[in-house]
Amino acid sequence: MAKSSWTPDSWKARKAAQAVQYDDAGELEAAVGTLAQLPPLVTSFEIEKLRSFLADAQEGRRFVLQGGDCAESIAECRPGPIAAKLKILLQMSMVLIHAGKRPVVRIGRFAGQYAKPRSQPTETREGTTLPSYFGDLVNRPGFDPNSRRADPWLLVEGYKHAGLTLNFIRSLVEGGFADLHHPEYWDLSFLESATLSPALRQEYETIVGEVSNALRFMQALGEREVSELTRVEFFTSHEGLNLWYESALVRRVPRREGHYDLSTHMPWIGERTRQLDGAHVELFRGIRNPVGVKVSNKAAPKEVLELIETLNPDDEPGKIVLITRMGAGAVRDGLPPLIEAVKASGRRVLWMTDPMHGNTISTEKGIKTRDFDAIVSELEGAMAVHEAQGTYFGGVHFELTGDDVTECVGGADGLTEDDLTKNYATLCDPRLNYRQALEMTFRIAKRIRPAF
Ligand code: PEP
Ligand code: CO
Repeated sequence: MAKSSWTPDSWKARKAAQAVQYDDAGELEAAVGTLAQLPPLVTSFEIEKLRSFLADAQEGRRFVLQGGDCAESIAECRPGPIAAKLKILLQMSMVLIHAGKRPVVRIGRFAGQYAKPRSQPTETREGTTLPSYFGDLVNRPGFDPNSRRADPWLLVEGYKHAGLTLNFIRSLVEGGFADLHHPEYWDLSFLESATLSPALRQEYETIVGEVSNALRFMQALGEREVSELTRVEFFTSHEGLNLWYESALVRRVPRREGHYDLSTHMPWIGERTRQLDGAHVELFRGIRNPVGVKVSNKAAPKEVLELIETLNPDDEPGKIVLITRMGAGAVRDGLPPLIEAVKASGRRVLWMTDPMHGNTISTEKGIKTRDFDAIVSELEGAMAVHEAQGTYFGGVHFELTGDDVTECVGGADGLTEDDLTKNYATLCDPRLNYRQALEMTFRIAKRIRPAF
């Protein structure tokens, strides 16, 4: 494909899958103009740092943990849920550091994960058809015409809440939040569950004991506090779906080459918007940020190679993160051809697995859920494939929350389909709750190969 020159606006000449239908061009222009005047949410220094960490990860020296809500919500921009999300990501990262004996890069799906692709543009309830809910950046979840209208000012509202979220995250990280490293702050009540086999319980307890010992050992070294030694860093990410929002934050910065998307450290391109000649690939091929790309088993190896070539023509380290999401049933056959093609091309990528989006099912009552065991199975499948191929399994991507929701079935708590309605709070896809997320991490920890 011939490459025309890139500008922050060149995406506008391409077809955008999942494009939002705004009904008032003047209003859209005014909202985007407002957004374009506002300060950036992240800095180029942080983006460069993340890219260098991802370059290390591509060499097998770091592991990536990416996680958070499917659809972040403005109503949930409150201290409790934000702190709970940081807490679970931090605790999971400790287990993963312990298992892999390498540093873990923590990347939240937060501070901007407000736009959602939908398989159906409209939703019908009791004979009434309205536009689907496309995330708080676009319209509102309520089922009435006014709520479902695409409101351009929500772009500004989303930006503001991303800023508030990020401000709180930065303060927590600065001020002693790192204490939560220690297993005495973890909720390990699921270890008592009768559904847990004695062998698994023993295994989990061993991991907890070892993490505790390691932290105590570091503390005993004395010179510095554990929180200093294990300085906590969080990066942000979201699906770069709404290109009005993203491009208003694509900027140049003083004394650096190129453009940065300053809405987040790492945008990713979704499975539904990764068309080679589409608007999303066009915008993101021009930015300096690392870029994630979701890939299912529907992606042909040739397509994936062309995506890599288009998004990273100079094969820069730390730039491309391929997040495979094939489903437990498809990963073992679907992943090898992609890995073989990328290996043969000699291109640098970081391979991660999102075991959530290929494992969404609907219960008989029509509730969207995911089964803990299917999620584990996709992760194990991906790890086995990478091991057989000699490629580095570089990270995991989860939809999760730090709260006690009932959205996914299974895990030691034995959540069943009947439990789902107890606290089903997601605006879009089902998330692992706090205990399921921690248990998931224990479950995969023993399979992650230590660096030494
Ligand atoms: C998501 O991550 O929320 C998502 C929609 O994923 P995918 O593009 O992989 O379906
Ligand atoms: Co989702």
